[in-house]
Amino acid sequence: MKILVTYFSKTGNTLAVAEAIRDALQQEDTEIKPIKEVESVEGYSLIFCGFPVHAHSVPVAVHNFIKRLKSGQKLALFSTHGAKTDGQMPKQAVHQAVGLAKGLEVIDSFTCRGQVEQEIIDDLMNKPEHRAWAMEAASAKSHPDEADLADARVFARGVLKKALKFEDFNKK
Ligand SMILES: Cc1cc2nc3c(=O)[nH]c(=O)nc-3n(C[C@H](O)[C@H](O)[C@H](O)COP(=O)(O)O)c2cc1C
Repeated sequence: MKILVTYFSKTGNTLAVAEAIRDALQQEDTEIKPIKEVESVEGYSLIFCGFPVHAHSVPVAVHNFIKRLKSGQKLALFSTHGAKTDGQMPKQAVHQAVGLAKGLEVIDSFTCRGQVEQEIIDDLMNKPEHRAWAMEAASAKSHPDEADLADARVFARGVLKKALKFEDFNKK
């Protein structure tokens, strides 16, 4: 099975998760590349696609990438975000990404926290109405950490197992 791990990452958090996923797959036929370097999506049966949550949403480059995928391709989504994992905010963006993936087999999704750029935190701290969010964002410092990356590896192996089952089923 040809696998692509692709990501959009401005400051390296989503890249770190993408690398953990690639390492966990231990499959020879796995390529990892930034979204902007993916010329063709043909031939990949399983695609892991990762992004940082930007303004509660999926970044435009990722939106456009998901739209390029072909019906029947299997997709696993992952994202990083400053907000706490148990809140609604991170789920919103993943739901949005799943909504874009019409006709695709979305196998699973994974999210974890990612350190937020200091410049953004400083900016938010100066606006009283955003101070609570600024404090929350600041607490994402040190993420993704080892535990997050271990969870990402478990996610990747689970996705692979499910994808292989799908392939067997379709062959019968
Ligand atoms: C322009 C911008 C908007 C962001 N908006 C959100 C947001 O709405 N919710 C959130 O939880 N984190 C938000 N973040 C934080 C990032 O999602 C988080 O730091 C992420 O891990 C960055 O990933 P990267 O290093 O791969 O770019 C935002 C960051 C930036 C730069």
